[in-house]
Amino acid sequence: MITVSHLTMRLAGGGHQVTILDDITLEIPDKQRVAIVGPSGSGKSTLLGLIAGLDRPTSGSIMLNGVEISAMRESALARYRRDHIGYIFQSFHLIPTLTALENVLVPLELAGMSEARDRAAHLLRTVGLEERLHHYPVQLSGGEQQRVAVARAFACHPPILLADEPTGNLDSSTGHHVMDLLRTLHCDFGTTLVLVTHDLALASSMERVIALRDGRIESDTPNPQYP
Ligand SMILES: Nc1ncnc2c1ncn2[C@@H]1O[C@H](COP(=O)(O)OP(=O)(O)O)[C@@H](O)[C@H]1O
Ligand SMILES: [Mg+2]
Repeated sequence: MITVSHLTMRLAGGGHQVTILDDITLEIPDKQRVAIVGPSGSGKSTLLGLIAGLDRPTSGSIMLNGVEISAMRESALARYRRDHIGYIFQSFHLIPTLTALENVLVPLELAGMSEARDRAAHLLRTVGLEERLHHYPVQLSGGEQQRVAVARAFACHPPILLADEPTGNLDSSTGHHVMDLLRTLHCDFGTTLVLVTHDLALASSMERVIALRDGRIESDTPNPQYP
């Protein structure tokens, strides 16, 4: 369970304070599939980054299964991220000097997993990239790079997967392929999936849709079409 309570984020900008998130309170139960939607600048990425422990709120708290991550020291937070969170960026964020296989190996080695190379190769096969293990990111298409990023995010089987517009830089058919993959992995591993998207069709394939506007929750609705 992710518990967000009275979360506020303010940043200093141009001599005055800007409120980016304003008193956000929500709970996300384990295994839920949630879409976060809203216009550009409404605070979606900021909220996701706070849940990931990539940033700290101005006030309010984030708890994971009753443990407050917003109060953790940096070293504990790094462990939390490693053990609980998979993160997928819109722009893939692969390490350009590493091959596909090596990119997926990074989190496995950080976690001290045994047989890391075999696991990484298996994950890349799962996402349909068995022919691309030794390619560098620049040699891969956008869809292939995002599939490497999906394999990397799932490498340690995190209970929570956060994805910030994962299909935003992909054409629609490649985007669907990546979404199918996320859905399959969500089902296979029972992962909680929180996905930021502009794509309403994509949002409607999720179990719950949270809409942000100007840093506040505008609506939070269960999806009647959810299969
Ligand atoms: N580091 C920052 N410094 C100042 N303003 C920021 C920073 N990061 C984000 N913002 C502002 O916060 C608002 C919300 O940003 P963001 O969370 O990226 O929105 P979204 O993902 O919904 O487009 C935007 O107005 C953005 O310009
Ligand atoms: Mg964003």
